[in-house]
Amino acid sequence: MSYINLEKIALKEIPKISDPDGRGNLSVIEKDVLPFVIKRVYYLYDVPSDSSRGGHAHIELQQFLIALSGSFDVVLDNGKSRRSITLNRPNKGLLIPSGVWRELENFSAGAVCLSLVSEVYQESDYIREYQDFLNYSK
Ligand code: TYD
Repeated sequence: MSYINLEKIALKEIPKISDPDGRGNLSVIEKDVLPFVIKRVYYLYDVPSDSSRGGHAHIELQQFLIALSGSFDVVLDNGKSRRSITLNRPNKGLLIPSGVWRELENFSAGAVCLSLVSEVYQESDYIREYQDFLNYSK
């Protein structure tokens, strides 16, 4: 397996419909916007600022993360290098392909991380030990 190019992982704009009468914004993710069919939705909230989430990679699962509220950092690791991306807008999402180690940290007060994923929950799809990930990504 060759190392995944982290530079290709960019924030993706989610269409935003601003209300002409000042009633706020609406963002929508329709079928065909993501490169996978959404099989599961979950969200993280009430995460203490000194806690981190994630700390794993997936074998098959692809994931689209959105900071619905507040902000947090996503540290991506391909087994060779790392890159940190801040999510702080509800109309931008981060598409994480399979085979990438991720850690979510620096959650602001009130942050909500929405996760749209390509697979149902299956523990066998997780690589939870960093050393296993390094061996896998070589
Ligand atoms: P975990 O994967 O450790 O969360 P994170 O990566 O966000 O830090 O999951 C925490 C617990 O929740 C773990 O026991 C597995 C369970 N879980 C489910 O049962 N279903 C799910 O869809 C998810 C994402 C987790």
